[in-house]
Amino acid sequence: MIKSAFGATLAIALALATLAASAQAQGNAAAQGAQTLPLTPRQVEGPYYPTQKLTDRDNDLTRVGAGAAAQGQALSLSGRLVDERNTPIPSARIEIWQTDHRGIYMHPNDAGTAGRDRNFQFYGEANTDEAGRFSFRTILPGIYGTRPRHIHVKIVPAKGPGLTTQLYFRGDERLSTDGIVRRLGADIAALLLVPVQRSPNEQAAEVTFVLPGN
Ligand SMILES: [Fe+2]
Repeated sequence: MIKSAFGATLAIALALATLAASAQAQGNAAAQGAQTLPLTPRQVEGPYYPTQKLTDRDNDLTRVGAGAAAQGQALSLSGRLVDERNTPIPSARIEIWQTDHRGIYMHPNDAGTAGRDRNFQFYGEANTDEAGRFSFRTILPGIYGTRPRHIHVKIVPAKGPGLTTQLYFRGDERLSTDGIVRRLGADIAALLLVPVQRSPNEQAAEVTFVLPGN
């Protein structure tokens, strides 16, 4: 009798625990469903999107073909492309373009372009994999004019509208006086890279881009 009462109590306790776990799981699912990631802010394309792309337009901008290494601090840039629900977006083309270590673009609008580092690739492309991941190897861009260091980005998904924006570096003193950055307000946070030193001449930084889901 005691055994049986105990058994019944245990069964009720187990049933209650199962119900509680189930309710919690549903709660978590609801919370996840409701929680959306902020979309990556758009920024102007600027006057230096390449008019002519080199034959070598892969995701390693630190050299052109089998040429010598570009000058400057190497930067490994890796990231993910997801929608607001954190679902990976595969098969999107990520394009980046930027200056060499001295702040010169490969572009006719840049008066100094003839003196650019010809070992630097200036523009590269990467495609997102099934996990939405992509990576580049580039250099820390140089500065020009009054602008902070930045890397231009264009995201071209397999379907739906794309996005053009720019990446910056946390701690850059020029961020507070740059008109393009100031228009972002607090949204700048999503575009700030925080490089960590990986070896004496290589830094690494990560970014997540968020596009509207289809
Ligand atoms: Fe620029």
